[in-house]
Amino acid sequence: MRAFIAGLPKAELHLHIEGTLEPELLFAMARRNGHALRSESIEALRAAYAFDDLQSFLDIYYEGAAVLRTEEDFYELTRAYLERAHAETVRHVEISFDPQTHTDRGVPFGTVIDGISAALDWGREELGMSCGLILSFLRHLPEEAAMATLEAALPYRDRIVAVGLDSSEQGHPPRDFVRVFERARAEGFRVVAHAGEEGPPDYIWQALDLLGAERIDHGVRALEDAKLVERLRTEQIPLTICPLSNVLLKVFPEMAAHNLPELIAAGLVVTINSDDPAYFGGYVNANYASIADALGLDRSQLAELAAASFRASFLPDADKRAHLDELAAYVKASP
Ligand code: HPA
Ligand code: ZN
Repeated sequence: MRAFIAGLPKAELHLHIEGTLEPELLFAMARRNGHALRSESIEALRAAYAFDDLQSFLDIYYEGAAVLRTEEDFYELTRAYLERAHAETVRHVEISFDPQTHTDRGVPFGTVIDGISAALDWGREELGMSCGLILSFLRHLPEEAAMATLEAALPYRDRIVAVGLDSSEQGHPPRDFVRVFERARAEGFRVVAHAGEEGPPDYIWQALDLLGAERIDHGVRALEDAKLVERLRTEQIPLTICPLSNVLLKVFPEMAAHNLPELIAAGLVVTINSDDPAYFGGYVNANYASIADALGLDRSQLAELAAASFRASFLPDADKRAHLDELAAYVKASP
C-alpha cells in the first residue's frame, strides 16, 4: 500500500507554506537573521510540538514563522516544500500563505510574495508541477486588517488564485469578514475558508452563504448537521481534510476515530492534505498512509480521494482531465 500511495498522482489543496518550515531550516534562518529562539536545539524545538488544540499549535506556528525575514527565506521555504511534494508525486499544489503574519512584523508584502512566487516559477520550470497561491486572512485580526491586506495584494493580482480564512476559529465567525470577501470576489478571486475544524457547523453555512466559499478547509464538523451534509453533497462542495492535523490538534482522539469514512459514505467530495506538515509529523503521503492503516481504506478508495483532489482544484477542466487520465492509467498498471 505504501508503494501504491508513493506513486499515486495527486493534488494538494490545503497546505500552509509557513507550516512547512522544518526545525532544521527554522534554526538556520534564525541564525542567519540574528533572531533569538526560545528553544536551544532542534531536538528541544521538536519536543515542544505537542498540542492540546488549534490555539496551542498556532502560538508555536506564529513564533516559528517569525524567523522568515527576506525574500530568500520565503524562496527557500517554498522550494523545499515543492521538492518534497514532487518526490511524493504531487502534480499540482494550491499553497496558502498568511501575509499578515509577516507584514505585522514589518516584512513587506512584496518580499513575501516575490520569494514564494520565484520558487513556484522554479517548481513549474524544473519540476513540471503546477502551482496556485491562496492568500489567507487571519481571522483573529479585525476585518479592516484583512481589507488592507487585500489592497496590498492587488498589484500582485495575477499571482493569486484565491483568498482564504484561517487562524483561531472559535469566536471568529466567517460573518465578521463579509465585506472583505465581497471585495475579493469582485476583484475576481476564488474563495475558500477554514470552517468546521473546531468551530460549529454554522460556521460552514456562513462560509458558504456569506463568504461565497467554493471549498471548505477541514469541514469535518459538517456531519453534526444533516441539512448541511445534504447541501455539501448536492452542490458537491469539496472538503480539504487533513487527517494528521486533526489528530495532532485533538479534533479526533485517534486516527481510528476520524470521521472520514462517514464523510465518504455521505457522498461528499473529500480530499487528503497535510495542512502544516512540519508540525504534524508528515507530508501528504503520510496522511494517505495513516488513513489507509487506521481506517482500512483500500486502493480504489485512495485513488478516488486522489481523483477528487484534481476535481476539487482550481485547475482548468482540460488540465483536470489530463491528471485524471494519468491517475487512471497508474491505477490500471498497478499490480
Ligand atoms: N487551522 C486554522 N489556521 C491554521 C491552520 C489550521 O489548521 N493551519 C495554519 N493555520
Ligand atoms: Zn489549515
